[in-house]
Amino acid sequence: MRNIDSNLCASGDFSKSGAPFSAERSALTVVEPPIETDLIPQASGELMLSEPSTAMITGAGGLLGRSMNAQLSQSGWRVIPMPRTELDITNEDDVMRAVELFRPDIVINCAATADVDRCEIDRDWAFAINENGPRFLARACREFGADLVHVSTDYVFDGSKEGFYTQEDEPKPLSVYGEAKLAGEFAVREEAERFYVVRTSWLFGVGGKNFGSRVIEYARRGANLKGVIDQTSIPTYAPDLAGRIEEIIKLRAHGLYQVTSSGPTTWFDFARRALDLAGLGDVQVEPVKREDLNQRAPRPHNTAMRCLVSEKLGLEPLRHWSDALEEFVREINHENM
Ligand SMILES: NC(=O)c1ccc[n+]([C@@H]2O[C@H](COP(=O)([O-])OP(=O)(O)OC[C@H]3O[C@@H](n4cnc5c(N)ncnc54)[C@H](OP(=O)(O)O)[C@@H]3O)[C@@H](O)[C@H]2O)c1
Repeated sequence: MRNIDSNLCASGDFSKSGAPFSAERSALTVVEPPIETDLIPQASGELMLSEPSTAMITGAGGLLGRSMNAQLSQSGWRVIPMPRTELDITNEDDVMRAVELFRPDIVINCAATADVDRCEIDRDWAFAINENGPRFLARACREFGADLVHVSTDYVFDGSKEGFYTQEDEPKPLSVYGEAKLAGEFAVREEAERFYVVRTSWLFGVGGKNFGSRVIEYARRGANLKGVIDQTSIPTYAPDLAGRIEEIIKLRAHGLYQVTSSGPTTWFDFARRALDLAGLGDVQVEPVKREDLNQRAPRPHNTAMRCLVSEKLGLEPLRHWSDALEEFVREINHENM
C-alpha cells in the first residue's frame, strides 16, 4: 500500500533476478463470471450520461484526490477540492456544514489513511478516519441529497484465494487497516441513500508518496532496494482510476465496484519494470519475502480483483499497469526537467 518503505527497503545485499516481464501477465487464472448476479447496481433512472455538475472531493491533497480533481476539472465539472486542511472528515459538524454550504451533486471521498502499519498500533485513529469519516460524509450526503463515491481497498480480502476476487467473495480483512476500511464500506451502505463504493489496489501516480515514484527516487539516490516477491495484486494508475470513477458516476449505476488497472504482479516485478522504464535498468532489486521485512501489519498474499459490475455494464478493462507505468515515468521525467 502507500507505506512505501514497507514494500521497498534499503538493503546491503543484492541479487539480480526476476521473472521475465511477460510471464507475470498470465500469473493468475481468470475465472469466468457467473452469468447471473445480484450485484448489478440499480440505476436511478435510465443508464445515461449526465451533464457535468458539481463535485466535492475530500482528501483532495492526496494521490487519488489530485487525480480526481484534474480529471473532473478537465471534463468541465465544477470541482470543490477539500484537502484535509479545509475539511477534516472525522469532524461530523464540519462535514455537515461543508456539504450544506457547497451543495455538491456528488461527494468523492478520497480521504483516508493508508498507513497500514500505523493502523495496526492505533486502532481508534484508523477507525476514526476510515470508518467514521465516510459515515459522516454519507449522513451529510443523505441530508443534502448528494451522491457519494467512497474509495476502498483490496485489503478487505484475506488474500488466500487463487485467482481474482470478485464482489461475491466474502471480505475477511487480516489487518486493522482492512477492518477499518471494510467498516467504512458498511457505514456508507448503512447511511447513504445513493452511493458508489469503489475498491482499488496498489495506487501509483504523480504526486504524493507512492511506490512508483519512490522506487525511482530511491534508485536515483543510490539506495539499495528490495522488492517483495510473494505478494500479488494489481498496481493501479490513479489517473486511470479517476477516469473510470467519472465514467461510473455518469452512468449513475450505484453499487459496489472493484476498479484496478489490468494484470496482476508482485511489488518486485513492478519495481523492476519501473526502473527499466526510467533508464535505471542496471540498478538491482533484491527479491525478498514479505515475512523477511518484519512488518507490524499482515498483508494479504493475493488480492488481484476483477469487477463483475463493470463487466456487466460493458465497461472495458483499464489498460495494463505496465502501459500506464510508461506514461507515469514520462510524467515524472517531465516534472524533473
Ligand atoms: N494507496 C494505495 O495503494 C491504495 C490502495 C488501495 C486503496 N486505496 C484507497 O484509495 C483511497 C485514496 O488513497 P491515496 O493513495 O490517494 O491516499 P493518500 O495519498 O494518502 O491521500 C489520502 C488523503 O486523505 C487525507 N486525510 C487523511 N486523514 C484525513 C481526514 N481526517 N480528513 C480529511 N482528509 C484526510 C490525507 O491528508 P494528509 O496527507 O494531510 O494526512 C491525504 O491527502 C483511500 O481510500 C485508500 O484507502 C489506496
